[in-house]
Amino acid sequence: MSWEPLPRPVRRCYAVAMTDYRMDSAHPGLALDRGVQGLLGTAIDRIDGPAKVAGVATYALEHQVAGLAHGVAVVAPMGAGHVTGIDAEAARTMPGVLAVYAGDQELPRQTPLFGQPGVPRYSGRLDSYGEVVGLVVAETFEAARDAARAVRVSAEPDPAARHATEDGEADAGGPPQGALLPDVTKGDLEAAMTQAAETVDVVYTTPRHVHAAIEPYGTIASWEDDALTIRGSIQILRAAVPTFAKYFEVEPDRVRVLSPFIGGGFGGKNASADALLAATAAKRLGRPVKVALTRQQAFHIAYGRSDTVQRIRLAADGDGRLSGVGQDSLVGQKVGGVSFEPVALGAVGLYSGPARSFTTKIAHINLPAHGPVRAPGEAVGMMGLECAMDELAERLAIDPIELRRRNEPDADPTSGKPFSSRRLVECFDRGAERFGWSERPEQPGTRREGEWLIGLGVATAARVNFLADSTARVRLSPDGRATVETDMTDLGTGTYTLLAQVAGETLGLPIHCVDVRLGDSLLPTGAGSGGSFGAASSASSVALACEAVVATLAERMGTAPEEMTLKDGHAIAGNRRVALAELVGGEPIEAEGSIHPGRNNRAMSQAAHGAQFAEVAVNAVTGEVRVRRMLGVFDCGRVLNAKTARSQAIGGMIWGLGYALHEEAVTDRRTGATVNRDMGEYHIPTQADVPQVDALFVEEVDRHANPVGAKGLGELGISGAGAAVANAIYNACGVRVRNFPITPDKLIAGLPPV
Ligand code: MOS
Repeated sequence: MSWEPLPRPVRRCYAVAMTDYRMDSAHPGLALDRGVQGLLGTAIDRIDGPAKVAGVATYALEHQVAGLAHGVAVVAPMGAGHVTGIDAEAARTMPGVLAVYAGDQELPRQTPLFGQPGVPRYSGRLDSYGEVVGLVVAETFEAARDAARAVRVSAEPDPAARHATEDGEADAGGPPQGALLPDVTKGDLEAAMTQAAETVDVVYTTPRHVHAAIEPYGTIASWEDDALTIRGSIQILRAAVPTFAKYFEVEPDRVRVLSPFIGGGFGGKNASADALLAATAAKRLGRPVKVALTRQQAFHIAYGRSDTVQRIRLAADGDGRLSGVGQDSLVGQKVGGVSFEPVALGAVGLYSGPARSFTTKIAHINLPAHGPVRAPGEAVGMMGLECAMDELAERLAIDPIELRRRNEPDADPTSGKPFSSRRLVECFDRGAERFGWSERPEQPGTRREGEWLIGLGVATAARVNFLADSTARVRLSPDGRATVETDMTDLGTGTYTLLAQVAGETLGLPIHCVDVRLGDSLLPTGAGSGGSFGAASSASSVALACEAVVATLAERMGTAPEEMTLKDGHAIAGNRRVALAELVGGEPIEAEGSIHPGRNNRAMSQAAHGAQFAEVAVNAVTGEVRVRRMLGVFDCGRVLNAKTARSQAIGGMIWGLGYALHEEAVTDRRTGATVNRDMGEYHIPTQADVPQVDALFVEEVDRHANPVGAKGLGELGISGAGAAVANAIYNACGVRVRNFPITPDKLIAGLPPV
């Protein structure tokens, strides 16, 4: 596979059939379900893999564009305050410099917050450390970098700046209108806590996190008259196009975004500061401009994940049946931002208990903005909740899995809505057997191997399931090949492959006879990648498009679609077997499929679940933690590709390991700078930290969720994984750390004598 943009515009002269489905009820089933090609669910290698290893998969910064100029952002080397001067004289006269834009009110100050209207532009005011104050453009990257370094910025610091969430001014009310997680209070949690046989009332904290994608934030922007082309690394094109259109005051149809390959996004790759800078400069200079943020700049200019302070309250009777559950949080957000980390998103629908409190307060602070990072809410919320559940299990002397079993609700415990599907208990049962849970030491600190203390831990994974509007086009050509087209993206998650599988399975084509084109906003508007809705939403639209193609083929075979089998490029009905190429004839058969969320999505409580297991060794002398084994058993509906699904799951679990032990963006309280702003000092798990990690699936086709019956998986693996590690650490050594990450200094004082 090599990748070149389509010529613009694409003209077509043949009829397009359309299959449109709104999820107002459960989907009755698809032609896909009758497929016999053997592709769906199979562990097929990525079809984009060879292009990636051969270096011909073109990432944002790799596009060869004639006449390219290079831009480097100038950032303020100080925190909140007012700019008093920018001296760019030296920079302007340096060799190769084309332009220096400094203190320019058209420039963005940071990456816009996802879904929030308006982009903060330069105004002379600085709201956090490292904001953009300018851009240098030169003939070469090196010249631009040198000149950017020669720009001197001076500023008057704001003495009232707040550099910690605890110091921030918290909103008096709850979350803003229309928030993903509105505050929930049901029953009387205070009373439940007073009357309970056993309670836990604890505060867990998680630090600020960043996405740490391998591929940097970078863009090549070019203009032709009033038409803008962005070659970027962008997850959701249909959200990015209007952002660019508004920023540059052009119609959305004058904006084309290309994002065919993405080197990791995790929620951070959306319309970004680098794109706005590159496009601003390209417009003024009349030349294409490339801008990439350095890793250090990205820590301040891109958004990350808020720190969280979570008060968790659990009230239970003597048998461990919960009478109350609370997860009330304080999270930070940069002044001006309204989005927030929805900490209790996983907890809301999880455990039974009539008294409930899930609230969030947002503290407005002078730190980098916070936006979506993989599994917004659950990634950190399930760490606090699931460690608190472990604490409750210990106080009650009930096995932690048994405690969860006793609080498994029949319907959503907050909304009362039925679950679309839920196999949490089955996940625990399968995992316990596979992992050897019965060998867990009942008393913490009692299993020892030399100077290593060994422990096992468990936690629930939960991630809300979404369906997004998605349209895809499928074309069956006279040569018998199929093409799938949608502006969906592939973050490295496997989208190219699983969409080829869905089309191949439905149309009876081997995988190599299906071409998939993604990541071009000229293509039909797809779901985009985010919120774990990408695979199920885009696969559903592809399956629906194929539905219409199959109907046409059946008509030409003179039979009903249900009476026809499609396999290996042939249609078989009765005693006839006809090559698809022959059935197609001279003109391609083309169809579009669209899926829309509907009443059914609102009438049901939808989430993916799982059981996380970890075994750790804690060094009794140094407090060093080695994770030895992890296992996740996940209920994510239908698995579309066993290999990419497993890869998503274990990737998330490894990230959870990192949240338990490593990741923390450290703030300099004087300036609000992130001190450890590179991958040397911002620690994530590396090969040597990652043990044997395995993932299994409890499958079920969830037709209430979407036509293909898959639930979101991309963000499920991280949910609860860190808590399983933390609970294993407690089981190993008897030290309960409530402020993540669990570094040796937090363990060492509490370790038992050697
Ligand atoms: Mo995600 S954090 O919605 O890519």
